Amino acid sequence: MANIVIIGTQWGDEGKGKIVDLLAEFCDVVVRFQGGNNAGHTMVINGEQFISHLIPSGILQGKKCYIGNGVIIDPRVLLDEINQLTRRGISVTSSLLKISEKAHVIMPYHSLIDQMRENQSEKSKIGTTGRGIGPCYEDKAARTGIRMIDLIDSSVFIDKCTTLIQEKNKYLNCFFSCHPINATEVIEKYTTYAKQLSPFVENISILLDRDIKSGKQILFEGAQGTHLDIDHGTYPYVTSSNTVSGNACSGSGIGPKHITGVLGIAKAYTTRVGSGPFPTELKNDIGDYIQKKGAEFGATTGRKRRCGWIDIVLLRNAIRLNGITGLVITKLDVLGGLDQIQICTAYEYQDSVMYDFPAHMGVLSACQPVCETLPGWKEDIGGITNYNMLPEAVKVYLKRLETLCQVPIEIISVGPQRDQTIMLNNPF
Ligand code: IMP
Repeated sequence: MANIVIIGTQWGDEGKGKIVDLLAEFCDVVVRFQGGNNAGHTMVINGEQFISHLIPSGILQGKKCYIGNGVIIDPRVLLDEINQLTRRGISVTSSLLKISEKAHVIMPYHSLIDQMRENQSEKSKIGTTGRGIGPCYEDKAARTGIRMIDLIDSSVFIDKCTTLIQEKNKYLNCFFSCHPINATEVIEKYTTYAKQLSPFVENISILLDRDIKSGKQILFEGAQGTHLDIDHGTYPYVTSSNTVSGNACSGSGIGPKHITGVLGIAKAYTTRVGSGPFPTELKNDIGDYIQKKGAEFGATTGRKRRCGWIDIVLLRNAIRLNGITGLVITKLDVLGGLDQIQICTAYEYQDSVMYDFPAHMGVLSACQPVCETLPGWKEDIGGITNYNMLPEAVKVYLKRLETLCQVPIEIISVGPQRDQTIMLNNPF
């Protein structure tokens, strides 16, 4: 029996959606445990593209999907997603999809506060997705949040919502000169959402316990990436939840002894959306080439992603923080066509060489990448599904990554389709 956590090792957008969709075939349940609709998981099945923001990617394989207590839910977005998938012939019934009663709800004031803060000044801009993620987690920590269990109990909901909107309106008016939010309208809207979502609401911890006891295999689907983690990422340019593997337990309600492996997803290069330091960023023709060839646009906001070489300092940090047992290298085909490829193995800061990722953002911003140069390859590798058929330069690149990371590469992705994959070791 295997219970595997899938984690992004960089700044999100590593291609986790495709890998979760692929591995979902071998497991029984897929669980989301943190984040909200700031995530965007892109999957391509038979040439058709699916982007899910909240529903675990396993839904496309007809697997049971749980949204854990660590996730925050915008009910309108979730209902839209359920309806869209249903219209495209994918079953999203309440026997397949379960939502934790303890998951917090994103309210209209959360998105408004998020957007107002972001528009306030360039200097303080984090480059958030504007979906209300930070303000919702703030309320959770302040113990004033609304949970799914509160949403579906109308008297609790009306009481909490009325009080909270009064407080938020004062804040919004005072700091941002916003028009007040109409509590009656919000209550009306959210009451209809509650009616539609209540059949999906469950105690996920109990369901998972039953699944584990009956020998089911579970896949925990991380969102964002390690370096967007609220504690371990490039603070303050991070999201507001723990994105590391440890949160698979607290964000879903199981103990750590049940996790049998952690798969770290790494793009063959690095990307980042939003603000914040990025030592291997390529602000040149090569960066543009990768951005265009890799179609590097945010799945949630459509923003162009910043691109750069793969960064081993970053990867080693992720391997340690998550206890990664196997690596998945994605979008390897995108690097094809380049004369040379670089791997950042350390940072140069002032007169010293650093091998560990610094916590100080001023230091990280001043770090220069120390790179090794490897030969590139011209072949299109998008159709290769056997490792031995890969061009020699590709194998040299992969072997070097493995040696530098000291973790085996288990899966290689060479294109967006399910079958554009080289499976060296299936973790299930
Ligand atoms: P928030 O999560 O919307 O608060 O945004 C905080 C930071 O995390 C911003 O830099 C976002 O661009 C980034 N971010 C949030 N979700 C994702 C994601 O799924 N992929 C990549 N970046 C993300």
